[in-house]
Amino acid sequence: MRQAIDPGICSKNLQRVKDAVSEVESAGVKLTIINIGGGYPCKYSSFRNHVALMDIATTVETEVKRLELTQQLITEPGRRIVANAGVAVTSVIGRSEKHGKKWLFLDMGVYSGLMQTAKFQESTRYYITSLDKKEADEEELVTYSLAGPTGDGPDVIDREALLPKNLEIGDRLVIHDIGAYSLPTVCPFHAFPQPCVYLV
Ligand SMILES: Cc1ncc(COP(=O)(O)O)c(C=O)c1O
Repeated sequence: MRQAIDPGICSKNLQRVKDAVSEVESAGVKLTIINIGGGYPCKYSSFRNHVALMDIATTVETEVKRLELTQQLITEPGRRIVANAGVAVTSVIGRSEKHGKKWLFLDMGVYSGLMQTAKFQESTRYYITSLDKKEADEEELVTYSLAGPTGDGPDVIDREALLPKNLEIGDRLVIHDIGAYSLPTVCPFHAFPQPCVYLV
C-alpha cells in the first residue's frame, strides 16, 4: 500500500509496462487493457507536501502518448477516494513522562484501526486535533508521543503529535482521514473493544 511520492515513478513504470507489452505482443498476444493500479496519495500529516493528483494524471497522459500505448487504461484508486471519509474520536486514558518525553495513552491504537501508523505501512502520521481543549495559540502546544491501550511495544501511533499542553485523562482527540485501511485492520489482539462506527 505505497503512496506515490513522485510522478516520475509513473514514467519509469510506464516504460517498464511498454517493454512488457512489446514482449508479449511479439509473442503474438494482443493486450487490450492496462491496469495501472492504485497508490494515489492522501494528505496525511506525514504527506503534507503530497503529489497532486493532477500532476500524476498529466505525467501518465504524457507518457502514454509518448510510448504510443494504445490500450484502454484503467486505475484502481483506493485511499485517495475514501481516506477523508472517516474520522476517529479517541479518549486519553493515561498520561506519563519518561526520559523527558510526554506520553499520552489512548483508548485506540495500532490494533484498533490505526495499523497504517506501523513502520511497514509507511509510518503514516495522521492529522490529530484536540476536541475538548482548543489550541489557543502555538505556545500552548507541546509534542507528545501517542500510544494505544495495549502496552505492546509497537502500539505507538505518533511520536511527534503537536497538541495542547493541558490535555487530561478523559479529553478526546480527533484522528482525521482514517477512512482507508482502518476498520479492515482492526484485530482482537489483547481483546480490547473494537471501535464503534457511526454513519453521519
Ligand atoms: C489490487 C489493488 N488495487 C488498488 C489498491 C488501492 O491502493 P491505494 O489505496 O493505495 O490507492 C489496492 C490496495 O491494497 C490493491 O490491493
